[in-house]
This record gives sequence, structure tokens and C-alpha cells, in this order.
Amino acid sequence: MGRFEELRERLRTGPAIAPSILAADFAHLGDAIAHVEAADAASIHFDVMDGRFVPNISIGLPVLASVRRVTSLPIEAHLMIVEPERYAEAFAQAGADIVTVHTEATVHLHRVLTAIRAAGATPGVTLNPATPLVMIEEVLPLVGLVLVMSINPGFGGQTYLPASTARIARLAEMRGEHGLDFIIEVDGGISPTTIHAAAEAGCDLMVAGTAVFNTHGTIAANIEALRTAMH
Ligand code: DX5
Ligand code: ZN
Repeated sequence: MGRFEELRERLRTGPAIAPSILAADFAHLGDAIAHVEAADAASIHFDVMDGRFVPNISIGLPVLASVRRVTSLPIEAHLMIVEPERYAEAFAQAGADIVTVHTEATVHLHRVLTAIRAAGATPGVTLNPATPLVMIEEVLPLVGLVLVMSINPGFGGQTYLPASTARIARLAEMRGEHGLDFIIEVDGGISPTTIHAAAEAGCDLMVAGTAVFNTHGTIAANIEALRTAMH
């Protein structure tokens, strides 16, 4: 079983946490990842921003290759970049197990998802809060993961948009109607206050950046607080 299939199996037993290393101290990224791994996180969420699709620039291929060398956790690359078809295969080759692209960022969503699969990774698709879910309905059979953005992408530490909960629930319904098995993930503003609503709506994987990496608690304690609040 590959890392994606192992993740898929694990999430059948209940939802889990995907720390977003965007909020970690990049000067000590190896330590952050070791802590996340020790706390039994489900995956590493890796945010790639190009300063075009979103108004911020983050990390890219060389950092991904370094992270790959120090962890056996599944890595999901969340590409917040225009024309993701130009880089999606490179992210798969650099070691991402899941490569997730925005439907708003590409004219040829079907093509890029197929290319990610051909490059040996699992394709994921995501959409901004204002994008109707029907925009991805036709590609649902092609993906292993659908990421529901619960903030406008670009920055960590924003507030969870409450309308996201109903979107997660509707996506879970669509998954059942189509007889599909993709992972449902949520990203943005997930905290001990908001995580329960997302879990109850049917979300499998909860991205958390500033709720995991902050000065209030250790990484282990913060992940545990999210787990406790989830149920
Ligand atoms: C934002 C990124 C998120 C970010 C979430 O565009 O996609 O993954 O790290 O950060 P928090 O959990 O702080 O909202
Ligand atoms: Zn993200």
C-alpha cells in the first residue's frame, strides 16, 4: 500500500489532523516535522504560493524535496499557483504524495489531474469559498482528495468562514450520490472552536496551521487539543 492508500485507510477510522507547515518556523522545519510525526499527525500539508494566484509567496520544490527526506508521513502539496499544469508533475517528482490544484487556476483541470496521476501522485482538487461545488463535479471520479477552502487562500491565521460547514456536508452528499471514496479535507481557520463543526459535517482531514504552530502550547499539546475538540 502506498502512502496515499494508507492515509485513506486511516481516515476510515475517523477524522485526523494535517498540520500546515506554513505556520512553522522555517529555520527549524526539521524539528517541527519531527514533533508533528511524534504527535501522530495524519499528513503534512505543504502550502505553495506564487504571489499571483494568491497575494503571498511561500515555499516550493527544493523545500519539498528536503521535507520528503526527513518524513515518512504523506505530504500533500496545496498549489496556490496560476497554471498549475506547469509545475504539478515536478511536485509529484519532488515527493508529494498528493498534489492538489485550484479549479480557478487552470483552464484544463481534467488534463492537469490526469497528468498528476501519470506522474505517480494522487490528484486532489480544491476551490475557493466563492466557487460553486458544481465546478468540480465532473472531475470527482478522477481525484483522491477534495479540499474545501474555508478562508480565502493566501495567509494563515484567518477566521473560518461559517458557510464552509454546509459546503462540506454537501460535498459529502455528492460523494455518496456518486458512489465515490475521495478524502474530504478542510483548510483555513481550523481551531478547537471550529473543528467540531467541520468533523460533524463529514470532513475527514483537518488542515491546521496557526492552531498547531504557535507560542501558546507545544505542537503535541496543540494537536491533542484539536483532537479532543473534534469529537
Ligand atoms: C492558506 C493555506 C492554509 C494555511 C491555514 O492559504 O492554504 O493551509 O496554512 O492556516 P490556518 O490554519 O492558520 O488558517
Ligand atoms: Zn493550504
